[in-house]
Amino acid sequence: MEWSAAILALLAICTSCLLLFRKGKGQGTGGRLPPGPRPLPIVGNLFQLDPKNMVKSLMALRERYGSVYTIHLGSQPFVVLCGYQTVKEALVDQGEEFSGRSEFPPLTHFTQGDGILFSNGEKWKVLRRFAVQTLREFGMGRRSIEERIQEEARCLVEELGKMKAEPVDPTFLISCAVSNIICSIMFGDRFGYEDKKFLTLVGLMNDNSHHLSSSWMQMYNIFPRVMYYLPGPHNRLFKNYEELRFFILEMVKMHQETLDPDFPRDFIDCFLLKMQQEKENPHTYFYMNSLVMTIHNLFFAATDTTRNTLRFGILILMKYPEVQAKVYEEINQVVGSHRSPSIEDRVELPYTDALIHEIQRVADVIPLGGPHTVTRDTHFHGYMLPKGTNVIPFLSSVHKDVTNFKDPEMFDPTNFLDKKGSFHRHHAFIPFGIGKRVCLGEPLARKEIFLFLTALVQHFMLQSVVPPEEIELTPVMTSIVSVPRPFKFRAIPR
Ligand code: HEM
Repeated sequence: MEWSAAILALLAICTSCLLLFRKGKGQGTGGRLPPGPRPLPIVGNLFQLDPKNMVKSLMALRERYGSVYTIHLGSQPFVVLCGYQTVKEALVDQGEEFSGRSEFPPLTHFTQGDGILFSNGEKWKVLRRFAVQTLREFGMGRRSIEERIQEEARCLVEELGKMKAEPVDPTFLISCAVSNIICSIMFGDRFGYEDKKFLTLVGLMNDNSHHLSSSWMQMYNIFPRVMYYLPGPHNRLFKNYEELRFFILEMVKMHQETLDPDFPRDFIDCFLLKMQQEKENPHTYFYMNSLVMTIHNLFFAATDTTRNTLRFGILILMKYPEVQAKVYEEINQVVGSHRSPSIEDRVELPYTDALIHEIQRVADVIPLGGPHTVTRDTHFHGYMLPKGTNVIPFLSSVHKDVTNFKDPEMFDPTNFLDKKGSFHRHHAFIPFGIGKRVCLGEPLARKEIFLFLTALVQHFMLQSVVPPEEIELTPVMTSIVSVPRPFKFRAIPR
């Protein structure tokens, strides 16, 4: 904390000069924001928040200010929405107003408003609709998405088998498996785990996810104009982005050379065809940078989230060996050991389904949800949020709410089972968000988590190298993403 306090002090001095020329969003525009802790000039509420545990800080503020309150990160106000009812009233009942995406400087600096994740208005609607449709079509194409995931799960099992039950950190292999699914949809095929090109891609994505969750990046997020000019490890992120852009452009070029309009092979082909169709339209949203950023966004949104969920899943299965035994028994009875689990099996595996939902609730991999803004002046809970006000749909407050889950801090698959042991969906289960910006990869992610975890339990007993009671489920740091603590495990063949 000492070094970050020193950096903050330095930033405070630098920023004070810049802020003389700058007016914060949502300020001085006639709005009436919800109450919250009194902000200090320039740094806002930074000293009242623990950057290493934002979830805890925001939970504590909820106790004091209720389900809607305002915090200031630097000079920017953010309205925090807590609990299912409030999040739903905003993102669903007033969905259009709350569908704006706020800036996330470390990424918007790179995307320049192109792609899906950080675009707004008509561009966002058109690109999102295109991506949803194309992902769906590839799910029904020659080889279904389910088959691609099953194939990848078999490769993952094979690689783990080669470890001969020696302790291994699964992060690398899981990154490869998860990245390969999105590669296969975007680029038409999977890569071998030793392919140099693929390893470069996985390495860049992993390195960026590490940088994005660092304290430097939190500072960049709050003081972008100052941090942009300062040396430091955050600059690596931008170097990596350039390499990623180059990588994607290369793939696009290869596709352009072999494109057959009658047989689009993958997402890139579909996008290139759309670019051709719309080449006379001066207002088209289908152009080269838009393609590059859309592909980047899908990789970015798909890999960390799914990988962290799977890693939390393995940790949980090892911490609760009795749960692992029950899941194995269920899989063994319904699927057996000679064929791959399929999505159709899910209805016959209610305990496994409940366990996976509980893993996602506890893992809570995007605790603060996606950053939103209001698209016009918006009345909400008796306040007036001016157009452009930043909004945090605090998903953790939904998943850890005693009014929804009887003991929310405890891991308990029965949260998703009824008295007869059948699976039941819980309205307050929203790890993919809700409303117009809901995760567009939800169907794909749910398939992946189910097929990967069931394949692992079908083939291996997952055993920790430390006693189960010593396994720590609290994440390393909780800011925009929740990352499980690094761990090693033994995959003991069944
Ligand atoms: C366990 C896995 C995943 C989780 C927990 C997750 C969660 C989320 C959340 C919370 C959001 C923000 C919603 C909001 O702004 O209100 C989001 C957005 C998004 N996700 Fe996912 N996601 C996962 C996997 C994926 C996958 C596999 C893909 C790609 C195929 C994907 C693509 C996206 C995109 C493009 C957006 C932005 C949507 C928009 O701005 O309209 N996600 N996701």
